[in-house]
Order: sequence, then structure tokens, then C-alpha cells
Amino acid sequence: MRVVRGDGGSPRQAPQSPGPTVETLIDEAASGGQLTVTQVVVPAGGDMREHDHGESQALLVPLAGELVITSGSHHEIISLGTVALLERGERVRLTNQTSEPCTVVMVFTPGDARTGTILERNSGQTAGKASAGMRWVPAGPVDQLDDDAAVHMDLAGHPVCVARSDGMVYAMLDECSHGQVELSEGDVADGHVECWLHGSRFALATGLPTGPPATQAVPVYPVRITAAGIEVALPATPEGGPYA
Ligand code: FES
Repeated sequence: MRVVRGDGGSPRQAPQSPGPTVETLIDEAASGGQLTVTQVVVPAGGDMREHDHGESQALLVPLAGELVITSGSHHEIISLGTVALLERGERVRLTNQTSEPCTVVMVFTPGDARTGTILERNSGQTAGKASAGMRWVPAGPVDQLDDDAAVHMDLAGHPVCVARSDGMVYAMLDECSHGQVELSEGDVADGHVECWLHGSRFALATGLPTGPPATQAVPVYPVRITAAGIEVALPATPEGGPYA
């Protein structure tokens, strides 16, 4: 038998209302790369909007209350005594249609190691230089951004997280590589953004994951500051976006 004890974590409140609260009980590092365990409380009438967990499988174990899981046109209700297994990449929505909060423990397997591919995709992007096939798109004045903050922008069809940290401005695809939620709704500090849903951290300069459970990088875009304000170099073809 192997017993893993996590240090726990601070509950994170989803930005939407009434949104779930997510607390990491055991992170992937603490479990020796075996799994990630979170506890999610979905308030009465609350909703965890449609998302998936990329290359992770997820086991959902309700501790209290009742939750409707919607996957495509399929609906299932889970409560104490039921477990649900979500497949890799399966898109689901979790809804609490009762008048009581629902508490669910979620166990995620590690994602497949596809980081190498993504690293190649991100290499060669130097801040301030646009590669062939990219164009500079205006993104508004610099002073619209507080330091250590991020905003979502739709720029020429691209969902972009534009962030400022330590006075530097960064741009990346506004989609966490772990679960397809918007990174612009996460916390920004020390040149990193932390996803609000499961706490993955990404370096704003490179898009590389620096904290689990994400294992894949997020595409980043060159930024330059002109007299007119921020400009972001974007590919001619949008990368897709959150909840696509
Ligand atoms: S969705 Fe899981 S860390 Fe972002």
C-alpha cells in the first residue's frame, strides 16, 4: 500500500456566478506523477460550464449532494454511491439543479507526454518579432492593463489573453492547455498566469507549463509597444478558442 498525503491548497472560486469552488488536495508532484486530486463544491443552482481535461481521465466521486453530468446529448445524475469516469478529451458540463451544494472529489490521471511537440511549435517565437504569415493586430493602450492582471481580447478572430506582469506585456492563446477554460480569468504574478480551475501555471513569456496538472504549452504571441499602444502578432488563421 502506498499512502500519499498532499499539503492541500487554497480553494479557488470560479469567476462565474454561482460558480464552483475548486481545491487541490493532492497535486501531481506530491503523488509522484501518478494523479491529481481536487475537491469541487458546486453551489445550489451552480454550474461548471462545458470543458474537458485534455489527455487526463477523470474519476468523479460525489461525497454530498447531486450533480447532472451532460456529455453531448447524454445526461447522468451522480450522487453518493455513484462514480463517473470521464474519458480523455470528453467534453462535459456539470450542473447542480438542487437547492443544496454538491461536493465531488475528482481524481485525474496525468496527461500524455506530448510536450515535445508543443515545445517545437513554440520555439522560434521571439518577443517583438512577427514570423512570416503573421500580422500585427492593435490591442489597445498599455494603460488599460493593471500590473499583474490579464484581460481577454478577441483580436482578428483569435481569443487572446493579454497580460501585464512586472511592467511587461504578454499575449497568449486564451485557453488553458489542460481543460479549455480561459486563462485570462486566472491570477497573474511574477511573469506567470495561474489557471483558476485546477491551478496549472504557465510562463507568460514562453507559454510553458511551470506548475501541474498541465503538461502542454500554450501558444504565445509576440508583442510590441508602439506609440498607438499594444500590438500582437497573430497567425493569419485563428488557433480556435475556449469552448470551441
Ligand atoms: S483547466 Fe485544469 S488547470 Fe486549467
